[in-house]
Amino acid sequence: MPANPTIRRAVIPAAGLGSRLLPLTKATPKEMLPVGDRPVIEHTVRELVASGITDITIVVSGGKSLIQDHFRPNPTLVEQLRADGKKEYADAVEEVGELARQGHITYLDQHGPYGNGTPVLNAARSFGDEPVLVLWPDDVFVAEVPRAQQLIRAYESTNCPVLALMPMAPAESQRYGVPVVKEDLGEGLLRITGLVEKPKPADAPSAYAAIGGYVITPAIIDELREQTRRWYEHRQGEIYLTDAINAYATTRAVYGQVISGRWYDTGNPADYLVAQMATALAHPEYGPILRKLALESSAPHTTPSTS
Ligand code: G1P
Repeated sequence: MPANPTIRRAVIPAAGLGSRLLPLTKATPKEMLPVGDRPVIEHTVRELVASGITDITIVVSGGKSLIQDHFRPNPTLVEQLRADGKKEYADAVEEVGELARQGHITYLDQHGPYGNGTPVLNAARSFGDEPVLVLWPDDVFVAEVPRAQQLIRAYESTNCPVLALMPMAPAESQRYGVPVVKEDLGEGLLRITGLVEKPKPADAPSAYAAIGGYVITPAIIDELREQTRRWYEHRQGEIYLTDAINAYATTRAVYGQVISGRWYDTGNPADYLVAQMATALAHPEYGPILRKLALESSAPHTTPSTS
């Protein structure tokens, strides 16, 4: 963990409906779906705590209380498990509570116009003049240096807002914010002059996707405020963080950091399944068993078809 991180705060917007994953997400928030041996959102919280973040706001909506339940310490359960001699499970439960304590997780209910800029603005009341990290919880990273830390380093070297980027295939552009790249400064750092939300492949300004990790500054919050003010005048459209960053980037410096590591966009069904398989195969205990089963002509618990 970095000794004196310049960024202490982070926001995780977690009020979305998870429509692309229905019916899986009918009762279970998409942030609580398992990837490996823990829910998706715990990967994000771990990443933040490992990067020195000590103030995490999770913005939720109705039906998301499972997220709070997951992170709430449960001393009664821990005590029971210890009394039953199940130390390993007791430690695992305790560790999640400890993670929430280290990250000082607090929760806010989302309110305001539709769109992913609204939860950021909701949380902004407590930001003061500090830069903050915004991470969508459905983008899971497996990286030697956590993605959040890579973003913090880029912020420290530029003192400007930073977007997490990954290369993408042109056909994917309609799923992501795509940056306008002005200059490649080496080591994955790019100077950005705009950000276009979900362009058609022919209109995509670059071959990079903004992948749900941002360092934003108070001036970007001002852009969100302005968008929201206009929304209340016309009551049209949505409040997008992408639009606020784009408006800011037309006149002021913004950077993109290409993240080293493996990215899973677990908000989309195919990538979610890939994330599950990859984490299962990488598991020290279950990975070898799965590999062996996959290589066998028939799994051990299979009976011949009767038809
Ligand atoms: C959001 C952002 C988009 C970004 C994407 C990353 O889109 O609006 O700019 O590229 O997250 O996952 P969503 O996935 O919510 O449609």
